[in-house]
Amino acid sequence: MKRLLAAASIVIAAAAPAQRSPERAAATERDYRATLALLGIASMRPGADGRDRSASNAANYDEAKVGAVPPLPPLLRTQSGRQVRTARDWWNVRRPELASLLEREVYGRVPTTAPRIVWTLTAEETRRNGGVGVLTRRYRGTAARAPDLAIDLSVTLPPVSGGPVPLVLELGFPEGFRFPGSTAPPGPDRTKRMIGAGWAYAVLVPSTVQPDDGAGLKEGVIGAASRGRPRAPDEWGALRAWAWGASRGLDLLEKEPLIDRRRVAIEGLSRYGKAALVAMAFDRRFSIGFIGSSGAGGAKLLRRDFGERLENLASSGEYHWFAPNFLKYGGPLTVADLPVDAHSLIALAAPRPLFIGAGNFEADGWVDPRGSFEAARAASAVYRLLRHQGLVGDSYPAIGETRAAGRIAFRQHEGGHNNGPNWPAFIGFAGRHWGLAR
Ligand code: GCU
Repeated sequence: MKRLLAAASIVIAAAAPAQRSPERAAATERDYRATLALLGIASMRPGADGRDRSASNAANYDEAKVGAVPPLPPLLRTQSGRQVRTARDWWNVRRPELASLLEREVYGRVPTTAPRIVWTLTAEETRRNGGVGVLTRRYRGTAARAPDLAIDLSVTLPPVSGGPVPLVLELGFPEGFRFPGSTAPPGPDRTKRMIGAGWAYAVLVPSTVQPDDGAGLKEGVIGAASRGRPRAPDEWGALRAWAWGASRGLDLLEKEPLIDRRRVAIEGLSRYGKAALVAMAFDRRFSIGFIGSSGAGGAKLLRRDFGERLENLASSGEYHWFAPNFLKYGGPLTVADLPVDAHSLIALAAPRPLFIGAGNFEADGWVDPRGSFEAARAASAVYRLLRHQGLVGDSYPAIGETRAAGRIAFRQHEGGHNNGPNWPAFIGFAGRHWGLAR
């Protein structure tokens, strides 16, 4: 647990550089209170305390204390109460219903005033990576109506001979970025692995799309779209904005003849793992998702009380990831009132392949790895309706076991809060589903 907290706080600090000043913290608190006032909410419940085990609201890390998970909202029954029995009903009725519930109550919809992004090539360089020459292109995304916006995207291509190559788009930090004090784990890094597989990769820096705090809701693409007025209760939070940024990146990548537009994966860790799953759910052009340690607000069932709780997400430190409406569930309503859960979000990716990962329980318990497994199992009903297997197998996999017989893979690796040890398994999984002999 200590290791988790150390890792998590490093991530938080690094995810929002220069955004932690007292002024910004005060502006965040002001926006948070204004958002609660707008929704008519008088008080919120505290989240789980991940640090103090003796606190009355200490996070639960004991499987025996999870208790009965409240019934999950149905995936295959329409709002009018009809059972969904055909793929056609899924695509025409139930999927749109779930997508609009997830938008309205959790992640928010993209307003029609979202800025139009124009990409400019700012630099191009060839260098060596993994023993081969690669070409890296750096782009900046700007918008006429948002003069401060400068979205950072870089694209690296392997030496290409023959047809277009698959690409993994990562929501992350600029390439080469290191957390202060961190050392790279031994072995080839993910970029060498992708280049070694003959794939291209791209890195989009989400904090350049939308800053990672409540004060930032007046900035970034959300600020540009709302033009000074407060967000409407069903409008986007940062997760949807980051996912939208990934889609704008994909608009550009699709125009590159060396990239196989039908084989573009989206990948992210932790808060960016949540955003990667939101991107899979709302943009069907992404063919595969690599969703790492996404936890609460990502692939983990919010109704399962283990690690982080909905109330943490609805607190002033994280509410900006969501639509204002989501805050209701941390105050006047509870998680049991939520008309969706993580299985609904995963189901929107169906029948496309998803690789869901996490670290071991000691180091990554906050994200509730098992809660993602349970959500994936529940979502598999939709994969079956669409005549594919989702997550195969009912027993909980051992650490280091890749459960990947179906279109949803699950793997809990031996390390902590990172995707590192899961890359080889992901590359094998994606290669297989992309029909590439390896
Ligand atoms: C915190 C937060 C998580 C989030 C994580 C991260 O731990 O509670 O929801 O995923 O930060 O992004 O590193």
